Amino acid sequence: MQSLELKQVNKSFGSLQVLSDINLKVEKGEFAVIVGHSGCGKSTALRMFAGLETATTGEVLADGKPIAGPDPQRVMIFQEHALYPWRTVEANVGFGLELAGVDKKEKRARVNAVLDKVGLDGFQRYYPHQLSGGMRQRVAIARALVVDPEVLLLDEPYGALDAITRLQMQNELIKLWRGTGKTMVLITHDIDEAVYLADSIYVMSPRPGRIIQKLTADMPRPRARNSQAFVDLRQQIMDSLDIGTYSI
Ligand SMILES: Nc1ncnc2c1ncn2[C@@H]1O[C@H](COP(=O)(O)OP(=O)(O)OP(=O)(O)O)[C@@H](O)[C@H]1O
Ligand SMILES: [Mg+2]
Repeated sequence: MQSLELKQVNKSFGSLQVLSDINLKVEKGEFAVIVGHSGCGKSTALRMFAGLETATTGEVLADGKPIAGPDPQRVMIFQEHALYPWRTVEANVGFGLELAGVDKKEKRARVNAVLDKVGLDGFQRYYPHQLSGGMRQRVAIARALVVDPEVLLLDEPYGALDAITRLQMQNELIKLWRGTGKTMVLITHDIDEAVYLADSIYVMSPRPGRIIQKLTADMPRPRARNSQAFVDLRQQIMDSLDIGTYSI
């Protein structure tokens, strides 16, 4: 698995400074979560790991080597899952393998195995509009997993889901991570989700985004959301985001 690192990274779009002196290291197989206010540069940072964005200054590294561009070992999963509406589940998930020239028989076997893993066995022939939001997100995850990348980069993957599906998907994600040992970087607005999933949590300031706090979540899994350690960590994040309280 790959380790990922941003070293003294600054990023500007024209005169707009988006990231300021970001230092962040995700170890191989670690589950890192980034939280921060809207517009603070979280997606921009994640896109750097995906090779879709470059730093204005500083270094973006995978296993200590500069990231030069997109790489099938590092796959991004978005909130709007961007499935092809005219392709079946099977054809959506198999798309990357098709591009890679994998033969039909192997493709089908790998697609079926990964659909089974995300709980979508039997839905091969469905079209995206025939699925629920949670199922569509599972298809997006399956599409990322089928190429067996070392790194999953998840940009608010559950932002569009209802609360119940979201909790269920968090459990599925943890299971998947534990079963594969992949390096994970996930962005979320949901503080509970961060505490539930993460090994380490990076809290970012409003734009220009800086890392204002790195927290370690070392509670055993599965985590009890009402345990003292959980509640304390949630409070620490809210304090550093400055949203823990208000005056009337
Ligand atoms: N390609 C681009 N060109 C110009 N400005 C950009 C570009 N991409 C991002 N930005 C700007 O960078 C800032 C940070 O955007 P980014 O998408 O990284 O924020 P974010 O933390 O992911 O926000 P959100 O939580 O709302 O998704 C925004 O002000 C945005 O307008
Ligand atoms: Mg974003």
